[in-house]
Order: sequence, then structure tokens, then C-alpha cells
Amino acid sequence: MKTDTPSRIEGRLVDLVPVSEEHLDDLLLVHRDEQVCRYLPFRPWNDRSDAEAWYSRMTRLAMARDAIQLVVCDRSTSRAVGTLVAFRFLVESGLAEVGWVLGREHWGKGLAADAVRAFLAYAFGPMGARRIEAGVIAENAASHRLAARLGFVREGVQRERYIKDGVAEDLVLYGLLAREYRATTAATG
Ligand SMILES: CC(C)(COP(=O)(O)OP(=O)(O)OC[C@H]1O[C@@H](n2cnc3c(N)ncnc32)[C@H](O)[C@@H]1OP(=O)(O)O)[C@@H](O)C(=O)NCCC(=O)NCCS
Repeated sequence: MKTDTPSRIEGRLVDLVPVSEEHLDDLLLVHRDEQVCRYLPFRPWNDRSDAEAWYSRMTRLAMARDAIQLVVCDRSTSRAVGTLVAFRFLVESGLAEVGWVLGREHWGKGLAADAVRAFLAYAFGPMGARRIEAGVIAENAASHRLAARLGFVREGVQRERYIKDGVAEDLVLYGLLAREYRATTAATG
């Protein structure tokens, strides 16, 4: 499995591109929103220094090939509207985890589904992954719907995995195998 960062992944509505400094102002708007961060394992960003600290961390991980940090760009506006990350690689097992985030004003337009679908085509194609995982906090209805829609199988629950705002949250684990993905895409085109 390849874990270097691709130069571009094209969806129907969005493009996934490597994060760069020019995206940080748009991503600050996305990540400073309490509602966007409600089910994420970190606090909302306050200012540009939080964006820069995140950018340095993700750049280091990408250079070490320990993560692929992409930005979701709305093709109609060329604006950065969210992020998609692949991480927690186990290269010999062909395993990666994926995480997705979209700015609130962009919810409900199919952009997240398009972004994750495009990533899966890359992951099970040129990247050579065998299994993609996702972890979704139990109350995060939109992400459960998204995972199910894209063919992820609900595999179990890790009880009280994260403390979020003082509350222990259950994490639902999803997995999708390359052979399941191929069977579904062959059947649906
Ligand atoms: C999760 C997220 C990316 C989904 O974005 P979105 O724009 O709603 O996604 P889409 O428009 O592609 O819709 C995906 C599906 O979820 C459904 N959905 C959206 N919001 C929903 C909600 N609040 N409750 C239930 N289903 C919902 C949509 O109807 C759609 O289902 P469909 O394909 O059957 O029509 C977005 O809500 C988000 O960024 N949330 C904050 C960050 C986050 O929690 N990330 C996930 C960490 S695991």
C-alpha cells in the first residue's frame, strides 16, 4: 500500500488536494465552528495560530508518510470547504483509517459523500488499500448515514472511548474491504 500524498483526487463536485498554507484561512472558518467540532476529538480552533499548529503537525506526518492530509475543494468556487485525512496506516495489512469534516454552510449538498467516494476509489485503486476503517461517535447521525451510504459495515462499538466536553462518548467502528467495495461498484457502476 502506498502512503505518499497524491497530487489530486477528482470527485464529481469536489477535488481533494494536499493541504497547503493558502487553505488555512478557509479551514479556520470550518474548524472554529463549535457545531462542526461537536463530534471531533479536539476543541474548535480559535485563531490562525491554531490553524498553523495543525498545518505543521499534518505536514510532519505527511512527510513521514504517516498521514495523507487532503483538503476538500468545492469545484464550483475553488474554495476549501473541508478536510479528509487518511491515517493510522498498517502498511503490511493494507489498512488505513479515514476521517472527514465539512464546513457547516456546506452540509447537506452531497459534498461529503462525493469526497469520501472519490477517496475510496483512490484508496482501493492506486493506493492499494485492502481495508478502510472509520470511527464515528455514537450521536453523530450525519456521519453514520454517510458511512452506511458508502457501504461501510458497522462492526462494533468501543464504549466510552473519548471524553468530549466532560462526557464519555461511545465510538462506533466501521470497516470496508476492497473486495466488498469492488463488488458494490461492479453492481452499481
Ligand atoms: C459528517 C458530515 C461531513 C456530513 O456532511 P453532509 O454535507 O451532510 O454530507 P452529505 O450531504 O454528503 O450527506 C450524507 C448523508 O447524511 C445525511 N445527513 C446529513 N445530515 C444528517 C443529520 N443531521 N442526520 C441524519 N442524516 C443526515 C444526508 O441526508 C445524506 O444521506 P443520503 O445520502 O441518504 O441523502 C458533516 O455533517 C460534518 O462535517 N460534520 C462535522 C464533522 C464530523 O463530525 N466529522 C465526522 C467525524 S467521524
